[in-house]
Amino acid sequence: AADTMQVAPILVALALALAVPSSSAERKCILTGSWINDLGSNMTINAVNGRGEFSGTYHTAVTATNNEIKRSPLQGSQHRRNQRNRATFGFTVNWSFSDSITVFTGQCFVDKDGKEVLKTMWLLRQDVDSLADDWKATRVGINVFTRLPRRE
Ligand SMILES: *[C@@H]1O[C@H](CO)[C@@H](O)[C@H](O)[C@H]1NC(C)=O
Ligand SMILES: *[C@@H]1O[C@H](CO)[C@@H](O)[C@H](O)[C@H]1NC(C)=O
Repeated sequence: AADTMQVAPILVALALALAVPSSSAERKCILTGSWINDLGSNMTINAVNGRGEFSGTYHTAVTATNNEIKRSPLQGSQHRRNQRNRATFGFTVNWSFSDSITVFTGQCFVDKDGKEVLKTMWLLRQDVDSLADDWKATRVGINVFTRLPRRE
């Protein structure tokens, strides 16, 4: 009986060690969920289907217009090799409060601390009145997204 008492705490410690989250190398990049970027803009990506397609909503914190910001739909594709800790993707945001369109491309990474990060670049196309204004219709930028903590 005395021997059993000694072994139990060791087994408990071993069980706890095994329960620690897997290392970053084993973590997978999952696009589904809510994300916030360096500007404070948020997006929610719904479940990615078997063909790598997804939809969601984008809530921007900034706008190049004077219009009131509204949540806007997004639609995209993820490269199907999503069983890895990185995945390329792209999506289009169809702004609901302006005549503009933004396309994002990016890659999901799991950093050395096991935190997911989306590194993206975007092109924003604004509606311009005439062909002569075409030269100034496109903007380019970079955004980095991290996962928003789940709300209770
Ligand atoms: C993004 O989410 C954060 C945290 O919930 C919130 O404070 C912020 O107002 C949101 N920004 C937008 C543009 O929705
Ligand atoms: C794109 O946005 C416009 C304006 O809100 C809307 O009329 C149209 O249905 C949207 N299309 C898609 C595919 O979301």
